[in-house]
Amino acid sequence: MVGPSLASIVGRKAASLPGYPYSAALRGSGIIWDAPSLDKWLAGAEQDVPGTLMPVSIEDTRTRADIIAYLQSSSAVLDKNVALTASHGNAVSSVP
Ligand code: HEM
Repeated sequence: MVGPSLASIVGRKAASLPGYPYSAALRGSGIIWDAPSLDKWLAGAEQDVPGTLMPVSIEDTRTRADIIAYLQSSSAVLDKNVALTASHGNAVSSVP
């Protein structure tokens, strides 16, 4: 997996998964992941957090909204203790 697990990402502090080798930039960002912060990140991660290791920008607003809705729904499902794994980084298309 290229990037960190995105399971339960919504509501989590950026760069807070133990064991993942985050950039100093993301660790120092102070971001809490919610819909607005995810939208800004996905629109241009390298502009949002200069020095990040995630080389991704998604121009289309609707596409970003769809991805964020998916991340919110998988975070909510996990809160109900239903096993579900959101992974990412192998390809953008790995996020339905
Ligand atoms: C729709 C696609 C994607 C979404 C929604 C997404 C989302 C995220 C989020 C929310 C984080 C922060 C995780 C945290 O704070 O624990 C992150 C980090 C990261 N992602 Fe992605 N990502 C996507 C695609 C990609 C792709 C295609 C790559 C690699 C080619 C990638 C590589 C990374 C890396 C390396 C990090 C750690 C960044 C750092 O430490 O500065 N991501 N991603």
